Amino acid sequence: MKIPALLVACLMAVAASPLARAEYGDVVINNFSDAAGMRPVVFPHWFHRVRFRCKVCHADLGFQFQAGGNQIDMLKIIDGQFCGACHNGELAWNVENCNLCHSGKPGTPTQVHESTLQRLGRTAATAPRPAASAAAAAR
Ligand code: HEC
Ligand code: HEC
Ligand code: HEC
Repeated sequence: MKIPALLVACLMAVAASPLARAEYGDVVINNFSDAAGMRPVVFPHWFHRVRFRCKVCHADLGFQFQAGGNQIDMLKIIDGQFCGACHNGELAWNVENCNLCHSGKPGTPTQVHESTLQRLGRTAATAPRPAASAAAAAR
């Protein structure tokens, strides 16, 4: 009796993990890049999450929990803020590797790439809102 339950749990865990990755997947950061003629930044969140605690970035380094929620520019990075706290040639490769960070497709909006929220947002923007029409019908 216990074995099938365990199997199901394992299968569910396997099935769920790619979704979890997509939800906290790569973050495209494009507040300034397009305008400056640079490709947008693709931040591989998962890659960093498995190496550092959330607190390192979201408390100690002050990254807001929001795609595009930080006003990051190269002066700050070279000054050791944000990405520059680590990408300084000591903890990780340095800022001269422009293309490793600026690797996005031009014109890509700031977003969590392919996240569930992003997809829902896309449908919500095009489809009529069920909650709003239900409220209107009730009036
Ligand atoms: C460690 C990652 C990283 C590296 C390496 C990097 N950048 Fe950036 N850069 C960023 C981030 C993050 C932003 C903010 C992106 C945005 O909001 O559009 C940014 C923004 C910019 C901007 C727009 C804002 C500003 O400062 O004017 C320019 C231009 C830019 N980078 C040029 C470069 C060049 C040139 C190089 C290589 C010499 C480089 N970057 C290397 C992460 C990086
Ligand atoms: C190496 C630094 C780093 C670590 C470690 C890290 N994050 Fe992030 N996180 C970021 C950056 C950078 C962004 C994007 C911010 C931006 O676009 O300006 C982000 C964005 C987010 C977002 C917003 C995504 C959205 O939907 O807008 C959430 C939520 C988040 N992180 C949660 C976490 C959690 C939970 C952990 C730990 C398990 C974690 N982060 C670890 C750097 C980090
Ligand atoms: C807390 C430290 C830390 C911060 C903050 C940080 N990184 Fe990194 N990053 C690393 C380390 C460590 C590596 C691995 C370096 C290596 O392999 O030599 C890495 C690797 C990367 C890679 C390569 C991933 C791969 O698949 O090889 C990219 C791209 C990157 N960082 C972009 C960024 C950008 C953009 C930011 C800011 C938004 C940022 N990082 C902030 C520590 C950090």
